[in-house]
Amino acid sequence: MYVLLSELRRMNVTEKAVVGAQPEGASDPQGAARAVRQMFTSIAPRYDLLNHVLSLNVDRLWWRRTARTFAAILRRPGAQVLDLCCGTGDMAFALRKQAGKLSPAITGADFSHAMLQRAHEKSAGTELRWVEADALRLPFADGRFQLVTSAFGFRNLADYDAGLREILRVLGRDGECGILDFGEPGGLVGKLYRVYFKRVLPKIGTLISGVSGPYAYLPASVERFPAPQQMLERMRAAGFREVSWTPYTLGIAGLYRGKK
Ligand SMILES: C[S@@+](CC[C@H](N)C(=O)[O-])C[C@H]1O[C@@H](n2cnc3c(N)ncnc32)[C@H](O)[C@@H]1O
Repeated sequence: MYVLLSELRRMNVTEKAVVGAQPEGASDPQGAARAVRQMFTSIAPRYDLLNHVLSLNVDRLWWRRTARTFAAILRRPGAQVLDLCCGTGDMAFALRKQAGKLSPAITGADFSHAMLQRAHEKSAGTELRWVEADALRLPFADGRFQLVTSAFGFRNLADYDAGLREILRVLGRDGECGILDFGEPGGLVGKLYRVYFKRVLPKIGTLISGVSGPYAYLPASVERFPAPQQMLERMRAAGFREVSWTPYTLGIAGLYRGKK
């Protein structure tokens, strides 16, 4: 019996498997995180242009819709908001626009210095703050934020459950979280979309960015990402309540919501 258990342990069968992004060539979560950071750093100079071209500008509508969803929190005086995996800052800008003159304290966090540098340049003259940090080890006290958002970033984490636990940790009581990410639409739309996403998008992405890896990784990472029901289950297991998923644009993207 002892031999069997130690053998299982050696094979990592007794421990819960880590589920997260797995870029090509990465063999463990540390390697995955390194590869993801490198990938985004390599496309940072062209990231915004590519985003808008590849999504035909629909990405702006998705950020705006997500921000609108949390209008009530953004209206609270002194609200503290964190945009995780903020990249070049567009989700944070949408939150700020939604808040209008109320100006809650919005902080964007990302582990790619190059992406943050662009966010910084784009936000000159605003009170937005940018922090270089890993989403799995945030440099913030427990319960600091009333709202945590993440747009198209969460899917890239090397360990989704650890990511959800870290979001919960930094959320205050009744705090809310909104994770916006790609989905996989069904039916005919799904079929057409998959042709675009898997064949056309990587070619355009590679052409404009001059880097081939990231735009092959994108469809692969969406395929690997848990389906909405599984993701909601993970959110419940992490400790979120009132979890929900709202499809955007026929399910091409969607917003996961959860309350602490
Ligand atoms: C697809 S971009 C999204 C950027 C932005 N939120 C947007 O909507 O355009 C994903 C971002 O997640 C960041 N990221 C991925 N894993 C991360 C981690 N573990 N910690 C912090 N940032 C991470 C990447 O550096 C990248 O900037």
